[in-house]
Amino acid sequence: MISDPTTDFPAFGSAQSNGAADYPGLDDWRAKPVSQQPTWEDSAEFESAMAELSSAPPLVFAGEVDVLRTQLAAAAQGEAFLLQGGDCAETFAGATANKISARVKTILQMAVVLTYGASLPVVKMGRMAGQFAKPRSSDTETRDGVTLPSFRGEIVNGFDFTPESRRHNPQRMVQAYNTSAATLNLVRAFTQGGFADLRSVHAWNQGFMKNPAYSRYEELAGEIDRAVRFMDAAGVDFSALRRTDFFTAHEALLLDYERALTRIDSRSGLPYSTSAHFLWIGERTRDLDGAHVEFLSKVRNPIGVKLGPTTKPEDALALIDKLDPEREPGRLTFITRMGAGRIREYLPALVEAVRDSGAQPLWVTDPMHGNTVTAANGYKTRRFDDVMDEVRGFFEVHRAAGTYPGGLHVEMTGDDVAECLGGSDPIDESAFADRYETLVDPRLNHQQSLEMAFLVTEALSHPDRSV
Ligand code: PEP
Ligand code: CO
Repeated sequence: MISDPTTDFPAFGSAQSNGAADYPGLDDWRAKPVSQQPTWEDSAEFESAMAELSSAPPLVFAGEVDVLRTQLAAAAQGEAFLLQGGDCAETFAGATANKISARVKTILQMAVVLTYGASLPVVKMGRMAGQFAKPRSSDTETRDGVTLPSFRGEIVNGFDFTPESRRHNPQRMVQAYNTSAATLNLVRAFTQGGFADLRSVHAWNQGFMKNPAYSRYEELAGEIDRAVRFMDAAGVDFSALRRTDFFTAHEALLLDYERALTRIDSRSGLPYSTSAHFLWIGERTRDLDGAHVEFLSKVRNPIGVKLGPTTKPEDALALIDKLDPEREPGRLTFITRMGAGRIREYLPALVEAVRDSGAQPLWVTDPMHGNTVTAANGYKTRRFDDVMDEVRGFFEVHRAAGTYPGGLHVEMTGDDVAECLGGSDPIDESAFADRYETLVDPRLNHQQSLEMAFLVTEALSHPDRSV
């Protein structure tokens, strides 16, 4: 996965000891209030799943995690841009070669647009290979007078509304691990094995340009195409054209799962979560004195925290003190998800307080989770225009504060679904009946994702022009 030959460790050689890590403080979270956890009924089943995960091989390596931290540090200083994208909730059945390749390809295409248009390196990261656990606002769901446990993501229970499917089943954690391993294996093969070859991007650019609604982007897409063909014709053959780093991320919601996959890095003797390169704490579990913040304060991975509209400046400052006491570049990312109508009002106070404290976390916008609405026909959706408006607001606030708008976090898929409304080739509510597939939140489809990349590129490369 890490192709940079200048890094001084072998990509897969940083051996980590087997078995759950033993390190001071790694279990302190157990004494803290913990929300959003499953209730596993059968303790023998639970112990067996824990034992299996505790001795399973790591999914990612400490050296890769360290490379990511360095790249995020560059993004925090405006020298790179982070693109995080993927499903709201992955599914076991969705881990097919076609779906995984479509998603990876879409992220790579978005990244090419951003890299070329903004002349910035783009750090590519999937909400993939582990994004299986979902926080829910209610523990139960009632349909036609029948009440069952809510669906909490396939790492906990099934989506089908039956008592057996909705039971919290610890064996699902093992299945989530195995599905993550299979997904990551394919992602590594795609991004290292020629699939990410920049010389093939002209094919999608042409498809994109054929649609008259995209004439606005023709120029940029055409330029990228010409640049890549020129490099190819000139015989440029540097490995960066053919391979790319691609990192994984998920919400670290199930603390038992994360704890079981924590390993001690043999080089440094420090604990790393090996379930993904980057882990984030959700808006619902970011309590300063809660178990999630406590546990993640103890692992070396770069950590994200989602910040919603109720976040106060002092909350952000206290999170920095707890999660990044050394102010280590690249360690902490704040992912803001305010809502289009609120970001210009609420974000400035946070950004200014953090800036004035001297801390320099990476600021990323999640323009999805503050903009969820229910469509007239009952589907949970998001309007592309609201999503874009939040992105615009994010850029405006950072420009005004003199801080760096350093990344984009989106729920997207490479497939032609109809889950979010609008876009240049507009999706309307009537399309939901046939092409709405998500189990939890609505995602941008392939075209909407590319369109967003073009719009963000304009904001990055022309800071003073509104997009
Ligand atoms: C999510 O990222 O899917 C999510 C639940 O986000 P948030 O914690 O911001 O609501
Ligand atoms: Co979501």
